[in-house]
Amino acid sequence: MDQFIVEGGVPLRGVVPISGAKNATLPIMAASLLANSPVTLRNVPALMDIDSMMRMLHHVGADVVRDKDSLVIDPTRFNVAEAPYDLVRKMRASFYVLGPMVAKLKKAKVSLPGGCVIGRRPVDLHIKGLEALGAKVKVEGGYVIVDKPKLKPAIFSLEGPSGSSVGATCNTLMAAVFIEGRAVIHGAAKEPEVMALVDFLNEMGAKIEVQDSTITIEGVKELHGTEHTIIPDRIEAGTYMVAAAITRGDLTIKGCHLPHMEVVVSKLREIGLEVEPVVGGARCRFANSRQSAINIRTLPYPGFPTDLQAQFSSLLALTKGESTITETIYPERFMHVAELSRMGAEISLYRATATICGVDKLQGAPVMATDLRASAALVLAALAAEGKTEILRVYHIDRGYERLEKKLEAVGARIRRVG
Ligand code: UD1
Repeated sequence: MDQFIVEGGVPLRGVVPISGAKNATLPIMAASLLANSPVTLRNVPALMDIDSMMRMLHHVGADVVRDKDSLVIDPTRFNVAEAPYDLVRKMRASFYVLGPMVAKLKKAKVSLPGGCVIGRRPVDLHIKGLEALGAKVKVEGGYVIVDKPKLKPAIFSLEGPSGSSVGATCNTLMAAVFIEGRAVIHGAAKEPEVMALVDFLNEMGAKIEVQDSTITIEGVKELHGTEHTIIPDRIEAGTYMVAAAITRGDLTIKGCHLPHMEVVVSKLREIGLEVEPVVGGARCRFANSRQSAINIRTLPYPGFPTDLQAQFSSLLALTKGESTITETIYPERFMHVAELSRMGAEISLYRATATICGVDKLQGAPVMATDLRASAALVLAALAAEGKTEILRVYHIDRGYERLEKKLEAVGARIRRVG
């Protein structure tokens, strides 16, 4: 199993290019199944999760060909209405094939994704969406099963105990596109990745309108192929902004889309990072004088993203004063805390709030990556720590960060992958 060896203490300087957003690509790949002719996707990141979705699309009968950062998906032979456990357990987002199966094949048998290291991740809202649209949904033997649904338009809310759900909104949208009449989803997620799916479906001929948290879907008879460019990854961009701050460096984040990152940028500015919009991106420079502790609460978009919570934990571990992070989306998502503590961070946890007392220095240590974003947090801490850090199980990083060590090396980091 690969690991990273990082020698910390180098301020990073230079340009980091941002890849296409993983979390926009995955639902869009699934939604390609709805078309009646091939779809071309551009700016697709080279990631393990994308490979997993390609395997899923092959499994259900589609042809998928990759050429550099483009994917051509031919959905015309999409005819398999079953997604087995073996494929879904490797990546939760495989569950996105449920909506297209229900809409186009009028049946589906999709494995429940099961638990994951960041806590309980139910799919009740996905099922609620399908049921609201008239489908009878059975959960049997670990599978979600839908057979010959009598779909009809409806007006309903998808809001759950933690607010809106990205996955349930995307799956329900995809299930609804061919229903004659007008379906209205209240309490829908507004994440840029959900809006990217809406744009993609509309480019294929769907009639979907978004107003605040309400999505209206006017059913169409069919969807056609299109060419679509994936939006930049706001979580990857945020991670490199944190890299600039934590190493007291100067990075130009090329290709990021700042309007998707307003809360993140304002938090970074509070901590003392100068974020200056430049043509095609943002320049991020650490200004020593304004460093101060902050409080963060993760929330659905446009709030602070849970997917940057772990990375900010590393930064706050080295930020003067006492900061807090409250996780409202995944209350158990604090696996990185124990590992950061092993590097000298002072973090205490009470329920879903981490209180972080900034220390002057972190020390390198052997640490274990537990999930995608927690792994990124450990790399960031390692970049700022004194001495050598070994990060084990970096395959988590390969799921969601394209060429992370190459991008970091190019801006001066001393990081290498060993097999
Ligand atoms: C997506 C992202 C993930 C991100 C998360 C929250 C992808 C592939 N993954 O995950 O990186 O961390 O959004 O921004 O895009 N919930 C329910 N019932 C459901 C579904 C969700 O209660 O049926 C709850 C979840 O437990 C969580 C909250 O709703 O507390 C938000 O989850 P959701 O937005 O659905 O996350 P994902 O789509 O799985």
